[in-house]
This record gives sequence, C-alpha cells and structure tokens, in this order.
Amino acid sequence: MATFRDQSLESQESGISTQFAMGWIACLLIASICAATTARNAESHANSWLMSNILSYVAEDSSACDNYYQHACGKYAARHINDPFTEITQMLDHKLNGNLVQLMDELHQRSQAPGFNKSSVEAKALRFYQTCREAPESTRKMQHYLRLTSPGEAITWPQFAPRGKPWPKDHFNWMKALGHLYRYRFTNVLMNVLVVPSVKNKNQFILDLSMPSLEGDSQHLGSFLNTFATLNAMGVPTKSLIPLARKIRSLETVIRVLTEVDDDDNTETLTLRQWEYQTGYAWQDFIESIVGHSVSNRYLVQTQNVKYFTALKRLMDSTDAEVVANYIMTRFVLYLVGDSMESSEPIECVKDVRRTMNLASDLLYKERFLNPATLQQYTQEVTQIFDQLRRQFLLQIGENRLGLTREQSRMVATKAQHVVLNIGNMPKGRDHRNFVSRHYEDLVFPLADFDYAREHLNLLEFRTRKKVLQLDQRAPSPEEFFYMAEPSTAMSSSPYYLMRQNVIVVPHAILQEPFFAADSHDIFKYSLLGFVLAHELMHSVDTTGLHFDGYGNVHEIGPQISSSPRFEAGLECLNRNNTQYLDERIADIAGLDLVYSTYFQSNLQRSQTDFTTIPPQQIFFLNLAQFFCGDGDPMNFVDHDNDQMRLHQMLNGFPPFHQAYGCPAKSNQPEKCQLW
Ligand SMILES: *[C@@H]1O[C@H](CO)[C@@H](O)[C@H](O)[C@H]1NC(C)=O
Ligand SMILES: *[C@@H]1O[C@H](CO)[C@@H](O)[C@H](O)[C@H]1NC(C)=O
Ligand SMILES: [Zn+2]
Repeated sequence: MATFRDQSLESQESGISTQFAMGWIACLLIASICAATTARNAESHANSWLMSNILSYVAEDSSACDNYYQHACGKYAARHINDPFTEITQMLDHKLNGNLVQLMDELHQRSQAPGFNKSSVEAKALRFYQTCREAPESTRKMQHYLRLTSPGEAITWPQFAPRGKPWPKDHFNWMKALGHLYRYRFTNVLMNVLVVPSVKNKNQFILDLSMPSLEGDSQHLGSFLNTFATLNAMGVPTKSLIPLARKIRSLETVIRVLTEVDDDDNTETLTLRQWEYQTGYAWQDFIESIVGHSVSNRYLVQTQNVKYFTALKRLMDSTDAEVVANYIMTRFVLYLVGDSMESSEPIECVKDVRRTMNLASDLLYKERFLNPATLQQYTQEVTQIFDQLRRQFLLQIGENRLGLTREQSRMVATKAQHVVLNIGNMPKGRDHRNFVSRHYEDLVFPLADFDYAREHLNLLEFRTRKKVLQLDQRAPSPEEFFYMAEPSTAMSSSPYYLMRQNVIVVPHAILQEPFFAADSHDIFKYSLLGFVLAHELMHSVDTTGLHFDGYGNVHEIGPQISSSPRFEAGLECLNRNNTQYLDERIADIAGLDLVYSTYFQSNLQRSQTDFTTIPPQQIFFLNLAQFFCGDGDPMNFVDHDNDQMRLHQMLNGFPPFHQAYGCPAKSNQPEKCQLW
C-alpha cells in the first residue's frame, strides 16, 4: 500500500535532518541566530512539502474556471487507489488509528511485566481491545446477545421460551421492555428518550420524550429480506419467519404513519402528573426504570408529540404482544449490530475502543503521541487563528449588512464572543489523567474470559449510567465541559459545534499533516483548518443556531433575525440550487467569506509566499479544496451535500475566486449571496 503521500513524507524527512545538522553547527557560533534558522528551515520544509502535496492532486488539463473540483482534486483517486480512506479527514483517522494499534501493542507488552496497574485507564482500554481481538466468534452472535438480555425482569425473548411451553405474553409489557432496554442506550424505537440540556435552562439536564425518527438507515427495519435474515439469525423458528416478518413490518408502517401525522413540534416542560393526564396513561414506572430511582408525580420531563403518544398507546393495546416483542427485539439487534465492528482486525478493534471508550482513547493518544510542548504550541496556534476569525466576524456584524437592530446585533456579537474552543475534548484546567481515571473508576471487567457481547453490553450500560447521572447534576460550564460523544462522532476526527454548549470541539487527530502543519506558512493554516473553524463558528448563527443565545438558552431574538427580510433574501439566494442541508451551506459559504477576508483583508501583515511562484490567492483555494478532494461514492454523504457539490456552491459566485484564476465573466454567473 505504498501511496504517493507516504513515500514523499519519508524522502523529505531525511532532507530535514541534514538541514538541522547544519543549523546546529551555526548555532555553536552564534546562539541567537540558531533558533531562528532552524525554525525557518522547518517552515521552508513544511511549505514545500505541503505545496508539492497539493499540486500532486491537480489535474492540469482541467480548467479551474469550468470545474474547480476536477482541477484541484482530479488526481486524488489515482494517488489513493488502494487506500482504506476516501478523503482527508478519514486519512487522518486512519493515521490516528494506526498509532493507537501501536499503542495497544506497547500496552500489551507492558501488561506482561510485573507492576502493571490493572485498574488504570490503559488496562481498561487494553482489556476491551483484547476482547475485540480475541473473543470467540460465537460471542459476537445475535443469539448470544439475546441470551444475555431480556425484555423485562422475569421474561425471556419469545423464541427462548422453554420447549413445549407458550411464551407468557401476559407478562410482557412494551413500556417495561423499553425502560429495561434503555440501560443499553437503546432508544428511538416506539419512542425516543434523551437526556438533554433543558430548553428552558441549559444548565439543567432533563429527560426528553418524543416520537421516534425513522429517517436514518439504522432507524428502521430495512428490506424484507433483511428482516427475514435478522429474525432467522435470532433463532426464530423457521415456520414463523415469514408471517412474523410481515407482521413486524406492518407494525412499523403504522408507526411511521403515526409519526407523519403528528406535526406538533411544540416542546413543553411538564410534571409527570400533567404528562400522564395529557397522554392518558401511567409513566411513573417507566421513568423510574430510566433514571434508576423513584420519582414523584411532580418530576419534570420535557415532552413533545402528545398526539403521537396517545395514538401509540391505542396501537400497542390492540397489537399482539408477541409481535411487539419481536419488533422491539429486531430493532434492538439492528442497533447492536450498528454499534459494533464486524471484524476483529487490529484497526477495527481500535475504532471500537474509540467508540466505546472515547475519553480513554483521547487521553492515551495525547499522552503517547503529543508531547506537552507540542500540544501547547498547537493549542496556541489554533486559538490564535480562531480569535482572528472571531474578530473579523465581529467587524462584519458591526458593518451590519443585514440591517439588524441594535439589540439583535448585540445578541449575535455576544454569542460569537462566548463561543468556546475545546481542543481535544477535555475539561480545561483539570488534571486530565486524574479526571479520566475517575471517569472510568466504576468500569470493571469482573470475568477473565473474553466475551465480546458481554463486554459490549457492559460498556453500553456504563455509558448510559454516565449519561443518566447528568440528570442529577448541574451542567458544567463551557470551560469545564467535555462531550460524551455519540459513537459516530467518537470515531471521527472532524471538528464539530455543540449548539447548546456553544462549544467547538477540535479533536487532536485533526492537528496532523497535511491538514495542519504547525511549522507551515499561515496561508496553509487559514485556508484549511481556518476554513473548518470558520464553518463551525458560522453554525452558531445558522438557522438552527440562532434559536439559542450565547449561553445556550432559547431566545426570541434569534428567530427574529432569521425571519428578517435581508436574512431571508440571503437564504433564498443560498438555496437557489436547492439543498436539503441549508445550514451546512450557510456554514460553508459564510465560513469561506469569513476566512478569506480574515486572511486577505484584515490589517495584519501577511508574509510573502516566497516558496512558490503560484499566487497566494490560488494557493488559498487549492488548499481549501483539500478538505473536499476525495474518491468516495457521491451517494455516501450523510447530512451534507456531496463534496464536489459543496465546493462548487462555495466558489461559484465568490468574486475573489474568479479573480484569482482570471475567469471570464459569464452571463450565467450567479451573484454572490449575502448573509452576515
Ligand atoms: C492504579 O490506577 C488507579 C486508577 O488510575 C489508581 O487509583 C491507583 O492508585 C493505581 N495504583 C497504583 C498502585 O499505582
Ligand atoms: C444551479 O442553478 C442554476 C440555475 O438555476 C443552473 O444553471 C446550475 O446548473 C445549477 N448548478 C448546479 C450545480 O446544480
Ligand atoms: Zn457543518
């Protein structure tokens, strides 16, 4: 798997060591020049490496004006034919995962030596990794999972009823089953249960009840064949397979209809008594099994979709309990399959550790691969870039292109000032090792044998307990905050914005070459990392972000802004090539505008890009494109338009781009859309 990138990295690394050697000889003579010289050498090395990397993707024969994606990314596929990733953030993930595999091997060595602390974070992460690596295949089977779980205290799944005895359907209760299975963080089936910051006060977590979403791939049954195969694998008797598959699928269809009929997105904070009165049935047992202690009927819950819930009760009362149990069971199994790796290869198992023990893998990666001085330098760099972006955004708000009132401008400015950057997703100002050790204090692996399903369920229970505990605690301040990442986020290196916390999380993994090179020229840092930070900052003021103020609380001024005439005109303009993901387009286009003006139009003196003859504006756009270059299937993009479309939408109609490449004005060239 010798890719172009790795080869060029190797050959140039030998180059840098000779430069350093010469630097140190000079250093003996004139000490003060030394530091400057080595730094300059490092920078010139980083610049020429990044430049040649960028150019290696350029398809010279494609016109930059006609199809920039093809121009800037045209050779991506050829350069990465056999690579297990399809774009740059996946590549960084892959590098990080490779490092973690090495770390797990080192830990394994250390664990053989006397004195290895069996209750340390490393020991626990290693233990889960080894379970993934070494557990017998039989312990990953669906039937095995189902034997370890049940739909309630004194009842098995239907197919496990003792031979010759009917399954005691009278003992089955759908709400009890959902309450019971929530311990594995299993939800969004029949209803959705979340622990979220309260709409009224983001410092208080609250239990949120709403109808399920059946939109995503993993949120419904899938094809008939798939349902059939799943039931079969779960040990349902052959003769029941087809009728049961039909019945649970039609149950899901009815549920889907119920969710489509309920158009009420009103969120209310109610006492249990009020909620019981509105829905017409008892909730106390259910809530108690979720939160793990008794509650009074004055207990507060956040609720939506009351119409759905009343209809759901009628539906459940009139449906055969065995069908309901089988529906819940099938969705439970699909959930577990989606939450585990199919293979026990090292790289897959490391992903599994990242997913299930995110905080531990973040800490271990940081301690092993980022020395404190480097980390401090990175943190400073990223913070500085972000502060400049924020300053530029505050200037833009001051220019008031949207014609906002004073109060509206002040709200947006305050919000931007309050955005907190969290590099590495750890609470600030705490001893991280101590903090993470305490987090995993009550995670234990009492049995010595390797059983994948058992430990997977164990970890799911552990994470659910942590989540539910938040209900009884005050939410941490943005500074002390860390995010208990959802599985897909936990396995990814991309930065993200947390709406309610007003926090941008920057995972350590993104701070690797070629995405970020600390020694490189600012133009590289701004056009790629800077763009991503600007994109996330703009999410704080997109149509969803505007609902919340700088403290994460619901606020009426935001929606006033998003329904003001110029903002609406801007949105309509952005949506002229219709997108399902308007907020993403806002973040892309407003983010590009912001980072470009921060780099080229702020008063700061930018140093010459004397390492190349290519004009700085072109370097900027070429490096920006690195975020979008890839060879993935355009159908595989989630929650965003595909990368080619995104880049096209950003650059088409952005005047500095057309100037940078001297593109002829075209009659059909769209106007630039104006938002902030
Ligand atoms: C082992 O690790 C745990 C958790 O980090 C710690 O509390 C304990 O003091 C350690 N024990 C020793 C002997 O270092
Ligand atoms: C966007 O819309 C314009 C006119 O409505 C059309 O000419 C153009 O092809 C569209 N672009 C894309 C990428 O769909
Ligand atoms: Zn986004």
